[in-house]
Amino acid sequence: MRVLGIETSCDETGVAIYDSESGLLADQLYSQVKLHVQYGGVVPELASRDHIRKIVPLIQTTLKEACVSPQEIDAVSYTAGPGLMGALLVGASVGRALAFAWNVPAVPVHHMEAHLLAPMLEDQVPDFPFIALLVSGGHTQLVQVNEIGKYALLGESLDDAVGEAFDKTAKLLGLEYPGGAMLAHLAQQGHPNRFIFPRPMINRPGLDFSFSGLKTAAALAIRANHEDEQTRCDIAYAFEKAVIDTLAIKSELALEKTGLTRLVLAGGVSANEKLRSTLSVIMHARQGQVFYARPQFCTDNGAMIAYAGWRRIQEGSRSDLSISVHPKWALSQ
Ligand code: KG4
Ligand code: ZN
Repeated sequence: MRVLGIETSCDETGVAIYDSESGLLADQLYSQVKLHVQYGGVVPELASRDHIRKIVPLIQTTLKEACVSPQEIDAVSYTAGPGLMGALLVGASVGRALAFAWNVPAVPVHHMEAHLLAPMLEDQVPDFPFIALLVSGGHTQLVQVNEIGKYALLGESLDDAVGEAFDKTAKLLGLEYPGGAMLAHLAQQGHPNRFIFPRPMINRPGLDFSFSGLKTAAALAIRANHEDEQTRCDIAYAFEKAVIDTLAIKSELALEKTGLTRLVLAGGVSANEKLRSTLSVIMHARQGQVFYARPQFCTDNGAMIAYAGWRRIQEGSRSDLSISVHPKWALSQ
Protein backbone atom coordinates (compact mmCIF):
# COMPACT_ATOMS: atom_id res chain seq x y z
CA MET A 1 0.00 0.00 0.00
CA ARG A 2 1.27 3.49 -0.90
CA VAL A 3 0.29 6.47 1.25
CA LEU A 4 0.79 10.11 0.28
CA GLY A 5 1.31 12.16 3.47
CA ILE A 6 0.84 15.92 3.79
CA GLU A 7 2.13 18.08 6.68
CA THR A 8 1.11 21.76 6.96
CA SER A 9 0.53 22.32 10.70
CA CYS A 10 2.97 25.20 11.13
CA ASP A 11 5.76 26.66 8.97
CA GLU A 12 6.93 23.65 6.96
CA THR A 13 5.16 22.20 3.94
CA GLY A 14 6.05 18.50 3.92
CA VAL A 15 4.95 15.84 1.43
CA ALA A 16 6.09 12.21 1.29
CA ILE A 17 5.09 8.81 -0.06
CA TYR A 18 5.40 5.74 2.16
CA ASP A 19 5.15 2.25 0.70
CA SER A 20 4.30 -0.50 3.21
CA GLU A 21 6.48 -2.98 1.25
CA SER A 22 9.53 -0.92 0.33
CA GLY A 23 9.48 1.98 2.81
CA LEU A 24 9.84 5.65 2.04
CA LEU A 25 9.72 6.37 -1.72
CA ALA A 26 9.98 10.16 -1.64
CA ASP A 27 10.16 12.96 0.90
CA GLN A 28 9.97 16.68 0.08
CA LEU A 29 10.11 19.60 2.47
CA TYR A 30 9.69 23.31 1.94
CA SER A 31 10.58 25.45 4.97
CA GLN A 32 9.04 28.90 5.43
CA VAL A 33 11.68 30.02 7.92
CA LYS A 34 13.00 32.77 5.62
CA LEU A 35 9.48 34.22 5.36
CA HIS A 36 8.96 34.46 9.14
CA VAL A 37 12.47 35.30 10.31
CA GLN A 38 11.99 39.07 9.97
CA TYR A 39 9.05 38.87 12.43
CA GLY A 40 10.94 36.77 15.00
CA GLY A 41 8.29 34.01 14.87
CA VAL A 42 5.61 32.39 12.74
CA VAL A 43 2.93 34.75 11.35
CA PRO A 44 -0.09 32.41 10.94
CA GLU A 45 -1.73 34.20 7.98
CA LEU A 46 1.54 34.30 6.02
CA ALA A 47 2.08 30.61 6.83
CA SER A 48 -1.34 29.63 5.40
CA ARG A 49 -0.80 31.61 2.22
CA ASP A 50 2.65 30.13 1.65
CA HIS A 51 1.31 26.59 2.14
CA ILE A 52 -1.30 27.37 -0.55
CA ARG A 53 1.43 28.51 -2.93
CA LYS A 54 3.73 25.54 -2.33
CA ILE A 55 1.56 22.50 -1.66
CA VAL A 56 0.49 21.44 -5.17
CA PRO A 57 3.93 21.86 -6.83
CA LEU A 58 5.45 19.98 -3.88
CA ILE A 59 3.01 17.07 -4.34
CA GLN A 60 3.92 16.96 -8.05
CA THR A 61 7.64 16.92 -7.19
CA THR A 62 7.08 14.14 -4.64
CA LEU A 63 5.19 11.95 -7.13
CA LYS A 64 7.98 12.52 -9.64
CA GLU A 65 10.70 11.69 -7.08
CA ALA A 66 8.91 8.42 -6.22
CA CYS A 67 8.26 7.63 -9.92
CA VAL A 68 4.64 7.02 -8.95
CA SER A 69 1.48 8.15 -10.76
CA PRO A 70 -1.63 9.34 -8.86
CA GLN A 71 -3.34 6.04 -9.84
CA GLU A 72 -0.72 4.20 -7.78
CA ILE A 73 -1.55 6.05 -4.53
CA ASP A 74 -3.79 3.97 -2.22
CA ALA A 75 -4.53 6.54 0.50
CA VAL A 76 -3.88 10.17 1.43
CA SER A 77 -3.05 11.21 5.00
CA TYR A 78 -2.82 14.76 6.27
CA THR A 79 -2.12 16.49 9.58
CA ALA A 80 -5.50 17.41 11.08
CA GLY A 81 -4.08 18.96 14.29
CA PRO A 82 -2.81 20.25 16.60
CA GLY A 83 -1.43 23.32 14.85
CA LEU A 84 -2.39 26.61 13.25
CA MET A 85 -6.00 26.62 12.03
CA GLY A 86 -5.37 28.20 8.62
CA ALA A 87 -2.23 26.18 7.94
CA LEU A 88 -3.95 22.91 8.89
CA LEU A 89 -6.90 23.73 6.65
CA VAL A 90 -4.64 23.98 3.59
CA GLY A 91 -3.23 20.45 3.99
CA ALA A 92 -6.58 18.98 5.05
CA SER A 93 -8.46 20.54 2.10
CA VAL A 94 -5.90 19.47 -0.47
CA GLY A 95 -5.50 16.00 1.08
CA ARG A 96 -9.24 15.39 1.34
CA ALA A 97 -9.88 16.69 -2.19
CA LEU A 98 -7.13 14.54 -3.74
CA ALA A 99 -8.41 11.45 -1.94
CA PHE A 100 -11.90 12.17 -3.28
CA ALA A 101 -10.64 12.74 -6.82
CA TRP A 102 -8.45 9.61 -6.73
CA ASN A 103 -11.22 7.58 -5.04
CA VAL A 104 -9.00 6.43 -2.16
CA PRO A 105 -9.39 6.76 1.65
CA ALA A 106 -8.38 9.98 3.40
CA VAL A 107 -6.78 9.65 6.83
CA PRO A 108 -6.52 12.54 9.31
CA VAL A 109 -3.35 12.29 11.41
CA HIS A 110 -2.48 13.70 14.85
CA HIS A 111 0.77 15.66 14.48
CA MET A 112 2.21 14.49 17.83
CA GLU A 113 1.30 10.86 17.13
CA ALA A 114 3.20 11.18 13.85
CA HIS A 115 6.21 12.61 15.73
CA LEU A 116 6.19 9.73 18.20
CA LEU A 117 6.01 7.14 15.40
CA ALA A 118 8.76 8.82 13.32
CA PRO A 119 11.58 6.72 14.88
CA MET A 120 9.84 3.70 13.27
CA LEU A 121 11.01 5.01 9.89
CA GLU A 122 14.50 3.88 10.96
CA ASP A 123 15.92 0.33 10.79
CA GLN A 124 15.62 -0.38 14.51
CA VAL A 125 11.93 -0.17 15.37
CA PRO A 126 10.86 0.02 19.04
CA ASP A 127 8.44 -2.65 20.27
CA PHE A 128 5.41 -1.61 22.31
CA PRO A 129 5.03 -0.66 25.11
CA PHE A 130 7.45 2.25 25.56
CA ILE A 131 7.79 5.70 27.09
CA ALA A 132 7.83 8.55 24.59
CA LEU A 133 9.48 11.84 25.41
CA LEU A 134 7.85 14.30 23.00
CA VAL A 135 9.76 17.55 22.75
CA SER A 136 8.73 20.02 20.08
CA GLY A 137 8.07 23.73 19.62
CA GLY A 138 4.56 23.44 21.02
CA HIS A 139 4.62 20.34 23.26
CA THR A 140 6.67 18.72 26.02
CA GLN A 141 5.11 15.46 27.10
CA LEU A 142 5.97 12.12 28.65
CA VAL A 143 3.59 9.53 27.27
CA GLN A 144 3.15 5.83 27.99
CA VAL A 145 2.59 4.24 24.59
CA ASN A 146 0.95 0.81 24.92
CA GLU A 147 0.14 0.42 21.23
CA ILE A 148 -1.00 2.59 18.31
CA GLY A 149 -3.74 4.84 19.66
CA LYS A 150 -3.33 3.72 23.30
CA TYR A 151 -1.61 6.68 24.89
CA ALA A 152 -1.52 7.68 28.55
CA LEU A 153 -0.20 11.15 29.31
CA LEU A 154 2.17 10.88 32.30
CA GLY A 155 3.38 14.48 32.43
CA GLU A 156 3.67 17.68 30.42
CA SER A 157 4.98 21.21 30.58
CA LEU A 158 2.92 23.55 32.71
CA ASP A 159 4.19 26.58 30.78
CA ASP A 160 6.64 26.86 27.84
CA ALA A 161 7.35 23.83 25.66
CA VAL A 162 11.06 22.90 25.48
CA GLY A 163 11.42 24.06 21.88
CA GLU A 164 9.69 27.31 22.77
CA ALA A 165 12.11 27.84 25.70
CA PHE A 166 15.05 27.12 23.36
CA ASP A 167 13.74 29.62 20.82
CA LYS A 168 12.98 32.35 23.37
CA THR A 169 16.39 31.98 25.03
CA ALA A 170 18.04 31.97 21.61
CA LYS A 171 16.27 35.25 20.84
CA LEU A 172 17.62 36.76 24.09
CA LEU A 173 21.09 35.67 22.90
CA GLY A 174 20.56 37.59 19.67
CA LEU A 175 19.92 34.52 17.45
CA GLU A 176 17.36 34.46 14.67
CA TYR A 177 14.10 32.50 14.79
CA PRO A 178 13.93 29.53 15.26
CA GLY A 179 17.09 29.60 17.32
CA GLY A 180 17.01 26.17 19.03
CA ALA A 181 19.60 24.51 16.80
CA MET A 182 21.77 27.67 16.73
CA LEU A 183 21.71 27.88 20.54
CA ALA A 184 22.89 24.25 20.65
CA HIS A 185 25.69 25.21 18.27
CA LEU A 186 26.77 28.13 20.52
CA ALA A 187 26.68 25.82 23.55
CA GLN A 188 29.39 23.64 22.00
CA GLN A 189 31.94 26.39 22.79
CA GLY A 190 30.57 27.06 26.31
CA HIS A 191 32.51 26.53 29.56
CA PRO A 192 30.71 23.98 31.75
CA ASN A 193 30.95 25.63 35.16
CA ARG A 194 30.60 29.36 34.61
CA PHE A 195 26.80 29.48 34.95
CA ILE A 196 24.62 26.89 36.69
CA PHE A 197 20.89 27.27 36.04
CA PRO A 198 18.16 25.55 38.08
CA ARG A 199 16.70 22.15 37.11
CA PRO A 200 13.01 23.04 37.47
CA MET A 201 10.54 20.67 39.19
CA ILE A 202 13.04 17.82 39.65
CA ASN A 203 12.33 17.53 43.35
CA ARG A 204 8.60 17.15 42.82
CA PRO A 205 7.29 13.60 42.56
CA GLY A 206 5.14 14.17 39.45
CA LEU A 207 6.22 14.06 35.82
CA ASP A 208 5.26 17.60 34.83
CA PHE A 209 7.78 20.14 33.57
CA SER A 210 8.21 23.90 33.77
CA PHE A 211 10.65 25.76 31.54
CA SER A 212 9.68 29.43 31.72
CA GLY A 213 11.89 30.02 34.79
CA LEU A 214 14.95 28.80 32.90
CA LYS A 215 14.40 31.40 30.23
CA THR A 216 14.28 34.01 33.03
CA ALA A 217 17.52 32.64 34.53
CA ALA A 218 19.16 33.07 31.13
CA ALA A 219 17.73 36.59 30.78
CA LEU A 220 19.13 37.59 34.20
CA ALA A 221 22.57 36.15 33.35
CA ILE A 222 22.59 38.05 30.06
CA ARG A 223 21.69 41.30 31.83
CA ALA A 224 24.24 40.85 34.63
CA ASN A 225 27.20 40.07 32.39
CA HIS A 226 29.15 41.76 29.67
CA GLU A 227 27.79 40.23 26.51
CA ASP A 228 30.95 39.04 24.78
CA GLU A 229 30.94 35.97 22.54
CA GLN A 230 32.27 33.60 25.23
CA THR A 231 29.58 34.71 27.69
CA ARG A 232 26.86 33.96 25.13
CA CYS A 233 28.35 30.49 24.61
CA ASP A 234 28.56 29.90 28.38
CA ILE A 235 24.93 30.94 28.90
CA ALA A 236 23.81 28.74 25.99
CA TYR A 237 25.71 25.84 27.55
CA ALA A 238 24.15 26.33 31.00
CA PHE A 239 20.66 26.60 29.50
CA GLU A 240 20.99 23.50 27.32
CA LYS A 241 22.53 21.49 30.18
CA ALA A 242 19.73 22.42 32.60
CA VAL A 243 17.06 21.49 30.03
CA ILE A 244 18.66 18.15 29.18
CA ASP A 245 19.26 17.21 32.83
CA THR A 246 15.62 17.99 33.63
CA LEU A 247 14.33 15.95 30.68
CA ALA A 248 16.63 13.06 31.59
CA ILE A 249 15.62 13.03 35.28
CA LYS A 250 11.89 13.04 34.46
CA SER A 251 12.31 10.41 31.72
CA GLU A 252 14.08 8.09 34.16
CA LEU A 253 11.32 8.70 36.71
CA ALA A 254 8.72 7.76 34.07
CA LEU A 255 10.62 4.53 33.32
CA GLU A 256 10.82 3.72 37.02
CA LYS A 257 7.15 4.46 37.66
CA THR A 258 5.98 2.29 34.77
CA GLY A 259 8.66 -0.41 34.87
CA LEU A 260 9.23 0.05 31.12
CA THR A 261 12.67 -0.29 29.53
CA ARG A 262 12.30 1.43 26.17
CA LEU A 263 12.47 5.19 25.63
CA VAL A 264 11.49 6.90 22.36
CA LEU A 265 12.65 10.47 21.82
CA ALA A 266 10.67 12.48 19.28
CA GLY A 267 9.78 16.00 18.12
CA GLY A 268 11.99 18.85 16.86
CA VAL A 269 14.15 19.09 19.99
CA SER A 270 15.03 15.38 19.70
CA ALA A 271 17.34 16.49 16.87
CA ASN A 272 19.54 17.92 19.65
CA GLU A 273 22.82 15.97 19.69
CA LYS A 274 23.50 16.42 23.40
CA LEU A 275 20.00 15.29 24.37
CA ARG A 276 20.37 12.19 22.18
CA SER A 277 23.80 11.29 23.53
CA THR A 278 22.86 11.97 27.18
CA LEU A 279 19.79 9.74 26.98
CA SER A 280 21.74 7.07 25.08
CA VAL A 281 24.30 6.90 27.89
CA ILE A 282 21.58 6.75 30.55
CA MET A 283 19.60 4.04 28.76
CA HIS A 284 22.74 2.01 28.16
CA ALA A 285 23.56 2.18 31.89
CA ARG A 286 19.99 1.08 32.71
CA GLN A 287 20.29 -1.77 30.19
CA GLY A 288 17.33 -0.32 28.36
CA GLN A 289 16.97 0.91 24.80
CA VAL A 290 16.61 4.39 23.34
CA PHE A 291 15.18 5.20 19.90
CA TYR A 292 15.14 8.38 17.85
CA ALA A 293 14.75 9.33 14.22
CA ARG A 294 17.42 10.84 11.96
CA PRO A 295 17.45 14.63 12.56
CA GLN A 296 15.39 15.50 9.45
CA PHE A 297 12.54 13.28 10.73
CA CYS A 298 12.69 14.83 14.23
CA THR A 299 11.56 18.25 13.02
CA ASP A 300 8.33 18.61 11.02
CA ASN A 301 8.23 16.53 7.83
CA GLY A 302 5.84 14.73 5.49
CA ALA A 303 7.42 11.27 5.97
CA MET A 304 6.07 10.90 9.51
CA ILE A 305 2.57 11.86 8.31
CA ALA A 306 2.66 9.30 5.48
CA TYR A 307 3.93 6.63 7.91
CA ALA A 308 1.41 7.47 10.66
CA GLY A 309 -1.31 7.50 7.98
CA TRP A 310 -0.37 3.97 6.96
CA ARG A 311 -0.37 2.77 10.62
CA ARG A 312 -3.75 4.44 11.16
CA ILE A 313 -5.25 2.81 8.06
CA GLN A 314 -4.21 -0.57 9.45
CA GLU A 315 -6.26 0.36 12.53
CA GLY A 316 -9.28 1.16 10.36
CA SER A 317 -9.04 4.96 10.49
CA ARG A 318 -10.88 6.82 7.69
CA SER A 319 -12.24 10.32 7.37
CA ASP A 320 -15.72 11.05 6.01
CA LEU A 321 -16.16 13.68 3.32
CA SER A 322 -16.03 16.63 5.72
CA ILE A 323 -12.86 18.65 6.09
CA SER A 324 -12.27 19.15 9.79
CA VAL A 325 -9.14 20.19 11.65
CA HIS A 326 -8.39 20.45 15.37
CA PRO A 327 -5.96 23.26 16.31
CA LYS A 328 -6.04 21.93 19.88
CA TRP A 329 -6.21 18.16 20.07
CA ALA A 330 -5.09 16.00 23.00
CA LEU A 331 -3.07 12.92 21.99
CA SER A 332 -5.13 10.74 24.34
CA GLN A 333 -8.27 11.60 22.31
O1 KG4 B 1 8.63 19.38 15.99
P1 KG4 B 1 9.01 20.71 15.45
O2 KG4 B 1 9.72 20.77 14.13
O3 KG4 B 1 7.76 21.63 15.32
C1 KG4 B 1 6.69 21.56 16.21
O4 KG4 B 1 5.87 20.62 16.10
O5 KG4 B 1 6.68 22.43 17.11
O6 KG4 B 1 9.91 21.40 16.58
C2 KG4 B 1 10.50 22.64 16.36
C3 KG4 B 1 11.32 23.03 17.58
C4 KG4 B 1 11.80 24.47 17.52
O7 KG4 B 1 11.51 25.07 18.76
C5 KG4 B 1 13.29 24.30 17.29
O8 KG4 B 1 14.06 25.36 17.80
C6 KG4 B 1 13.58 23.02 18.02
O9 KG4 B 1 12.49 22.19 17.69
N1 KG4 B 1 14.85 22.41 17.59
C7 KG4 B 1 15.92 22.26 18.41
C8 KG4 B 1 16.94 21.66 17.63
N2 KG4 B 1 16.46 21.47 16.36
C9 KG4 B 1 15.17 21.94 16.37
N3 KG4 B 1 16.11 22.56 19.71
C10 KG4 B 1 17.30 22.26 20.25
N4 KG4 B 1 18.33 21.71 19.57
C11 KG4 B 1 18.20 21.40 18.28
N5 KG4 B 1 19.22 20.83 17.61
ZN1 ZN C 1 6.10 19.15 15.02
